[in-house]
Amino acid sequence: MRHLSRLRLTAFRNYTAAALDLDDRHVVLTGPNGAGKTNLLEAVSLLSPGRGLRRASFDTVQAQGSDIGWAVAATVETDDGPADIGTGATPDGGRRVRINGANARSIEAMSDYLRVLWLTPAMDGLFSGPASDRRRFLDRLGHHAHSQPFLVGLGLRQGHAPAQSAA
Ligand SMILES: Nc1ncnc2c1ncn2[C@@H]1O[C@H](COP(=O)(O)OP(=O)(O)OP(=O)(O)O)[C@@H](O)[C@H]1O
Ligand SMILES: [Mg+2]
Repeated sequence: MRHLSRLRLTAFRNYTAAALDLDDRHVVLTGPNGAGKTNLLEAVSLLSPGRGLRRASFDTVQAQGSDIGWAVAATVETDDGPADIGTGATPDGGRRVRINGANARSIEAMSDYLRVLWLTPAMDGLFSGPASDRRRFLDRLGHHAHSQPFLVGLGLRQGHAPAQSAA
């Protein structure tokens, strides 16, 4: 199964540097609020075109106080062997993509190796909104399931139940 065997973060949000070596099993992230769980998922989500699961601007993901540009790199294990894909800051506030050590011709080139899908609380409109949006999402999910494995990040925030009012 296609999976990430290595994930490296540099100057990305609260990570000065992080390195994860993974196998093909599922990953569960646990930790206190603010530990950087969603940041890690956001980093993985940037291994696909677009602005990631928070839709943040790239200067927001830049680790505050760091003078090196942010970067996310991963090794994707495919049937044809491992591929190294990475993305990171450009001086003009955009981002570039490198694949197997060379600059990719486009951001979309990452999709040849990895498709990333997410479902987050901010997307709750998917359940309450128009059925057409839901169908589109499920179509994408189905498309991924039939072509390439996919990743879904589901962020749940522990909250306090509203106080019960006295009857
Ligand atoms: N650009 C940045 N530079 C440095 N730190 C940042 C940056 N952006 C966010 N952070 C820090 O990242 C932390 C939040 O990380 P994250 O949202 O991943 O937490 P979490 O583990 O998902 O928490 P929760 O359980 O509340 O969802 C905060 O401490 C925040 O200050
Ligand atoms: Mg979170």
